[in-house]
Amino acid sequence: MKRNVFGLLVAVVAGVVVLDAQSSEHRKLLHEIRGRDKGQLAVSEEDGRFLRLMVASSGSKRALEIGGASGYSAIWIGLALRETGGRLVTIEYDPARAKELADNIRRAGLSDTVQVVAGDAFQQIPKVQGTFDFVFLDAWKRDYKRFFELVYPRLDTGGLFIAHNVVNKRTEMGDFLDVVQKHPSLWTTIVSPSGEGMSVSLKR
Ligand SMILES: C[S@@+](CC[C@H](N)C(=O)[O-])C[C@H]1O[C@@H](n2cnc3c(N)ncnc32)[C@H](O)[C@@H]1O
Repeated sequence: MKRNVFGLLVAVVAGVVVLDAQSSEHRKLLHEIRGRDKGQLAVSEEDGRFLRLMVASSGSKRALEIGGASGYSAIWIGLALRETGGRLVTIEYDPARAKELADNIRRAGLSDTVQVVAGDAFQQIPKVQGTFDFVFLDAWKRDYKRFFELVYPRLDTGGLFIAHNVVNKRTEMGDFLDVVQKHPSLWTTIVSPSGEGMSVSLKR
């Protein structure tokens, strides 16, 4: 994590460069995924852009997503990881959605960057090797605290833990928000690019 002003400037510029680098094919695919998302599971476009910027600006390389659905957020994260030279493991419980997720990652040309794992993340995360420097949590909201406890020991110092829907589904995850906002080794802030809200926690 770059913490000085110069580093931050470079990081923000890097984010803007990545933003401009999105191809029309990716735009079309992302639009199509949202169009088919009848359950409205995918993050908003604004939140997707925010995730991409966070990965690019932090230079993250070992990313984990819990709750991949059909791949909308995974594509935004993957586009930034392609720039940082990193990789994402995204885990999806529902078999039909996990298949769509894998298909969409392939269509986005991100198979080298994004690994799709089908199954329950509580069981799959322990099987993933190594530590993480970027975690995006977007599974069922009442599980957030348990997922945080599972992943926190494997989050690198300087790593980011981002959780979705912390504004519009706040009441379902009060215990999680209490933990991350009072944690002595985390700096946590809430951002809300589109009203759903994300907690962004930096491990110090
Ligand atoms: C809100 S959606 C994720 C949307 C996705 N992040 C996006 O923006 O495209 C939540 C997903 O988490 C999955 N999920 C819930 N609990 C899970 C678990 N324990 N392990 C893996 N996936 C889980 C659900 O099946 C659902 O597809």
